[in-house]
Amino acid sequence: MQISVIGTGYVGLVSGACFAEFGVNVLCMDTDAKRIARLEKGDVPFYEPGITELVAKGISQSRLSFTTDLTRAVDHGQVIFIAVGTPPKKDGSADLSYVEEVGRGIARTMTSYKVIVTKSTVPVGTGELLKKVISANQPKKVLFDVASNPEFLREGSAIEDFMRPNRVVIGSESEQAASIMKDLYRPLYLLETPFVVTDVPTAEMIKYASNAFLATKISFINEIATLCERVGADVQMVSKGMGLDHRIGSKFLHAGPGFGGSCFPKDLAALVQMGDRAGYPMQIAQAAATVNSQQRDRMIDKISAVLGTIKGSTIAMLGLSFKPNTNDLREAPALAIAQALMQSGAGLRGYDPAALEEAAQILPGMIACKDPYDAATGADALVLMTEWNEFRNLDFAKLKTIMRKPVLVDLRNVYESSRVTSLGFHHVSVGRAP
Ligand code: UGA
Repeated sequence: MQISVIGTGYVGLVSGACFAEFGVNVLCMDTDAKRIARLEKGDVPFYEPGITELVAKGISQSRLSFTTDLTRAVDHGQVIFIAVGTPPKKDGSADLSYVEEVGRGIARTMTSYKVIVTKSTVPVGTGELLKKVISANQPKKVLFDVASNPEFLREGSAIEDFMRPNRVVIGSESEQAASIMKDLYRPLYLLETPFVVTDVPTAEMIKYASNAFLATKISFINEIATLCERVGADVQMVSKGMGLDHRIGSKFLHAGPGFGGSCFPKDLAALVQMGDRAGYPMQIAQAAATVNSQQRDRMIDKISAVLGTIKGSTIAMLGLSFKPNTNDLREAPALAIAQALMQSGAGLRGYDPAALEEAAQILPGMIACKDPYDAATGADALVLMTEWNEFRNLDFAKLKTIMRKPVLVDLRNVYESSRVTSLGFHHVSVGRAP
């Protein structure tokens, strides 16, 4: 089978490279000529474990190619995935102008039946909109179907998530399109992956509801964590005790500085917008977003309380990306917290295994350090912001000799208090009595 993917951002490129690995012949298209030139050489413009190897393999086996030519892409694929950006507008709703533009382009050049699939997270109703845009712009009538095939990839484990998904969701308006889409995912039949085949609006809603639910789980446990601190309970054990109930599940119950990234904050805002437009306020999604932004303030209060005064203190921050194994800084709690601390007069020494350069540009006042120990030198507190593996086994004896004060603010609850305290450190964590 031949498919085309329009948009070589994170979702588009990961999906294209993974479909090529499934044995499909994939042509990826992007209007950004520089990006396409880089990709043709196997140079991937973002950090994701395994993607560079997969792109190189696809290219060398002639199953993955790139173009800036939309007509070529439309001609190539029986299935055309739209994976262009849907950035948030000022009011939180998703900006669909790129999706519409691609729709018009496809309409103008299509000469045979196509399944046109949205892969980006798009508001419920986008499939219908796309259908109208394409129909209205066709010079002569050519049959097509629209479908929705939302992705559930996590940055940092996107390839594994694509190759071994919990489920594949296909929203389609015809049997023919559903069966072509199922065929594309044939290698997953061997893994007995469940397929959810439904209509287009339902598939679109599954994506938003899933992300909003996961975000709500995190805000819920963060709220419980704050209460734990006040009443003397341990949120780590609370979450373990809750998570063992299969109806609750143990994932996404880890308390911390709040969620970030390009998906949860944006998707919650878009869901709230969708609810407002439909005349039904999404109160739980709104509360999850509110608790998340308050969580950042609570982390600043925590750091401030342990330091006594922020002004004139030196803070070492380990981990700046929104989570480990990515260099993505979008909506990273670290950025907002670092900015607030510097504004209150703290000196900031930061280190991140993948996002340091980009972070230094966003936080010009930060001293970019070469490793955790460089960052900790002369610091009054070490703030563990993101749980990268390389922060899981820090040398506390060494840290004690180089820090001004032996203080660990562990915002991901990586360390056991008893261990850190026995090594002479003051340990502050999230959701555990101080
Ligand atoms: C998320 C979803 O997990 C994916 O299924 C989805 O495809 C993707 O959004 C998307 O819509 O494209 P991602 O944003 O890559 O994936 O990151 P997650 O691993 O979900 O983490 C999101 C945030 O939640 C991070 O800031 C993380 O630190 C935080 N988190 C996660 C917690 O604070 N506690 C937890 O227990 C889990």
